[in-house]
Amino acid sequence: MTRTDRRFATVIIPLTVTALLAGCGNSGSSGSADAASDAGPLTLYNAQHEDLITAMVDGFTEQTGIEVELRSGDDAELANQIVAEGDASPADVFVTENSPSIDLVAEAGLLAPIEESTLAQVPDQFSPADGSWVGFAARSTVLAYNTDKLTEAQLPASLLDLADPAWKGRFGIAPGGADFQAIVGAVLALRGEDATRTWLAGLKDNAQVYQGNTAVMTAVDQGEIEAGVIYHYYWYKDRAESGNNSANVELHYFGNQDPGAFVSVSGAGVLASSDQADEAQQLVAYLTSPAGQQRSAQSTALEYAVGNDATSAEVLPPLDGLDAPEVDPGMLNGPQVTELMQEAGLL
Ligand SMILES: [Fe+2]
Repeated sequence: MTRTDRRFATVIIPLTVTALLAGCGNSGSSGSADAASDAGPLTLYNAQHEDLITAMVDGFTEQTGIEVELRSGDDAELANQIVAEGDASPADVFVTENSPSIDLVAEAGLLAPIEESTLAQVPDQFSPADGSWVGFAARSTVLAYNTDKLTEAQLPASLLDLADPAWKGRFGIAPGGADFQAIVGAVLALRGEDATRTWLAGLKDNAQVYQGNTAVMTAVDQGEIEAGVIYHYYWYKDRAESGNNSANVELHYFGNQDPGAFVSVSGAGVLASSDQADEAQQLVAYLTSPAGQQRSAQSTALEYAVGNDATSAEVLPPLDGLDAPEVDPGMLNGPQVTELMQEAGLL
């Protein structure tokens, strides 16, 4: 694709690929800035929440002068779009909320190796062994519960306990989203196919289904359900903003390396077809750098920073104290998860 074509595409396509689906439904403004540069604008396919990615990309543009055009959608939507576009994709960089979607693109052979110096900025546990992408943020699975309905003593010890008939009708999940599907991927990686199939059948029997994490948390807050499986930052953001949907909600961290303590990694990758490979690598280097990680920690997103020695927002319990299970983020099998969830009737 010529540069003229790229510029044309950056004007037209964002109107159709709107920000409405970005990061579980958040919307926000584009991260482009006016700094002059011979390079760019880079095209960033963004499946992360826009408050997080905009804060980080603005820091990159301030530091380098390279402008970035965001095209936002959700994990599966953008991954499938890149695979469909193949070598003709206008994307230079792809960032996801959860690792299965960036793995899908990696497995299609569409990502260039991340530079070693960038991989070295993040502990190994946050990147796949093959270095095809790099982790730049993380999110903890939690059980949000209504404090009028449940005491701490009544909370399940394991996420897998929610398949027990005793929990029938009492909790919520958002199975249609990439966030919950990543958690299922972790259960599959940690417990195997048979146990996952049994657990999903139990969820089908027991769980109330909602559209997204915020809907689950709101239902918990209103006492419609006693508990719900979400990621941590939905609660922290609501508390930081108004508490309107979380006043009656507290978070239960499963710990004990339980599948329910799974920490989902957000990935950044450079498209092999990018005609601005150097600038694209610079962007991913920035996202994982101390400066980029600090932008994340200071943003309103309240996800975890993952860079070496990076400090996350003060309000969050430290990531290394969550006793999360060890899961290779490059080994979550998205297609198998979808298949098992369809088989269970959850999709
Ligand atoms: Fe999310």
